[in-house]
Amino acid sequence: MDFNKIFANNEKWVAKKLALDPDYFTNLSKSQNPEILYIGCSDSRVTAEEIMGAEPGEIFIHRNIANMVISTDLNVMSVLNFAVRHLKVKHIVVCGHYECGGIKASLLPKDLGLLNPWLRNIRDVYRIHKTELNEIKTEKEKINKLVELNVQEQCINLIKTAAVQLAHKERGLLVHGWVFDIYTGKIIDLNLDFPKILESIIEIYKLES
Ligand code: CO
Repeated sequence: MDFNKIFANNEKWVAKKLALDPDYFTNLSKSQNPEILYIGCSDSRVTAEEIMGAEPGEIFIHRNIANMVISTDLNVMSVLNFAVRHLKVKHIVVCGHYECGGIKASLLPKDLGLLNPWLRNIRDVYRIHKTELNEIKTEKEKINKLVELNVQEQCINLIKTAAVQLAHKERGLLVHGWVFDIYTGKIIDLNLDFPKILESIIEIYKLES
């Protein structure tokens, strides 16, 4: 992508926003009040705002390789705590996508250096669901099923945190699992039963008292 084009595009975008509302940036600069925290993959094909038709200010966003929620990752945990405890978002979405390079890489018996510990978390998801995954005949279907199961496990990782447990109890915060279907462009809601999952694991992971 041509860098001059980027700045020209930006000028056009500013003009378009100001034509609709001369106070657009004055208002935008005042504060943010997003209702959704979105955790997605860094993949360049899976944009966050564009696929949802969202405007600046509507969604708090965190993206990393394969949309992971890892308890020792200070980055995702900082985003989560700020979004839940301070911005008081009402929903958290974990959005994976078919044809995810991170998921594919986790299935390779290869030393990928610094990526090893990151991808190890996806291998752990595979181990938990090994029986189901090993029954799948084609590689493509297996990868895409792992994409879905990984979203589910990352949602569970969110539920393991004190911030989410407390916000759910106090104000009904909900966690959602989605997959972006890169073959059609559609968002698939995995319809995870958040209260049921919470109930099934809280005995072990309860933190709020
Ligand atoms: Co990806």
